[in-house]
Amino acid sequence: MTNFNITPNRRKTLSLKWTAYDSDILPMWLADMDFSAPKVILNALHKQVDHGVLGYEIPGRAFYEVVSRRMDALYGWKVDPDWVIYTPGVNNGYNIAARVLCSSRKGYVIQTPVYNEFHEAEGKVGIPKRVAPLAMLTKGNRVRYEVDDDALKKAVKGAGMFLLCHPHNPVGKIFSRAELTRMATICIENKVPIVSDEIHAEILLGGAKFKPLASLSKEIENNTITLVSASKACNVPGLSAAFAIVPNEELRKRFFAAALGMSYEVSSPGLTATHAAFSGRADAWLNDLRRHLTANRDFLVDYVTRFMPNVRTTVPDATYLGWLDFTQTAIYGSPFEFFLSKAKVALSDGKKFGSQSAGFARINFGTSRKILKEGLDKMRKAMFSIQG
Ligand SMILES: Cc1ncc(COP(=O)(O)O)c(C=O)c1O
Repeated sequence: MTNFNITPNRRKTLSLKWTAYDSDILPMWLADMDFSAPKVILNALHKQVDHGVLGYEIPGRAFYEVVSRRMDALYGWKVDPDWVIYTPGVNNGYNIAARVLCSSRKGYVIQTPVYNEFHEAEGKVGIPKRVAPLAMLTKGNRVRYEVDDDALKKAVKGAGMFLLCHPHNPVGKIFSRAELTRMATICIENKVPIVSDEIHAEILLGGAKFKPLASLSKEIENNTITLVSASKACNVPGLSAAFAIVPNEELRKRFFAAALGMSYEVSSPGLTATHAAFSGRADAWLNDLRRHLTANRDFLVDYVTRFMPNVRTTVPDATYLGWLDFTQTAIYGSPFEFFLSKAKVALSDGKKFGSQSAGFARINFGTSRKILKEGLDKMRKAMFSIQG
């Protein structure tokens, strides 16, 4: 059994998470975890390095079949290996899709609050962003989100694509079958393809179950580009490997043509790691990881409930990200700035996920219990100092 309470020191590496702020700041922001990757992936990478030649590599048929078998084994989703296209990242994948499907007149739709990079496609690809906010519901100190069908219907009219985050970063939600079906129907009625970012699909907490959107029906499959990667669950995002599953032949041709020469190639270590992960050899490690993350989630929710009066929290079904609502507290201004200066803890700034979330912050609990508790203790102390 892997002990996830032992985390390597990353301060002296090039880690973005651990070097972006001064050394007295505890980083709990960027979505990468503090754990070593699974041994089976490290062994596969060692083998590749020990061979000594690091030339160009291409994923052969067997590689695409591994992806296809993984989708079948986990979800019963029959993916033809020919539908799979590699990309050097999920962000890259939806930006390519945006270039193919959108224009200065046909924007893309997102559901806020949502992963900060989703907002960036507007500037990076030069297409307008349309926002369909999720509906926020609160009960006691818990906050959860639901799809607002009317907002989605309004936003998708005349849009080029709907960029869905499933499971959802930062709110940790796995959309129900009914919600997925309703969203897909709205998009099909409006002839708007869906790009479903499912990068967090294998980071399931408690007894949560996940279904890819495209696996719900042939009609939905034909209208969906699914983006998947081993990078989040196996903690290898630095290897830059992901893939798009594009069942619709016409869409696939256009996606492939847009990627060619720009971003089709993937790093060979990325291919090696993906192959090891998707062939199921890291599954025991993944089960241990889920147990650790579930316990950290429960610790976080319990801590907030007991020691952080007036702070609301999500109880995520998936991801290692908590979403905290400080709007009912005495913190004046940005909670991100407050905790950075008063607690020396770097969270992710809520307003980057949507303009309505300035009073929120995202916390990364993909770390040891010791680091999680240290961060929460510092935050609690800083809040106590202003509440008296
Ligand atoms: C929802 C979501 N999509 C995409 C990414 C980035 O993926 P990649 O590194 O493969 O571009 C992240 C990283 O945090 C994410 O949370």
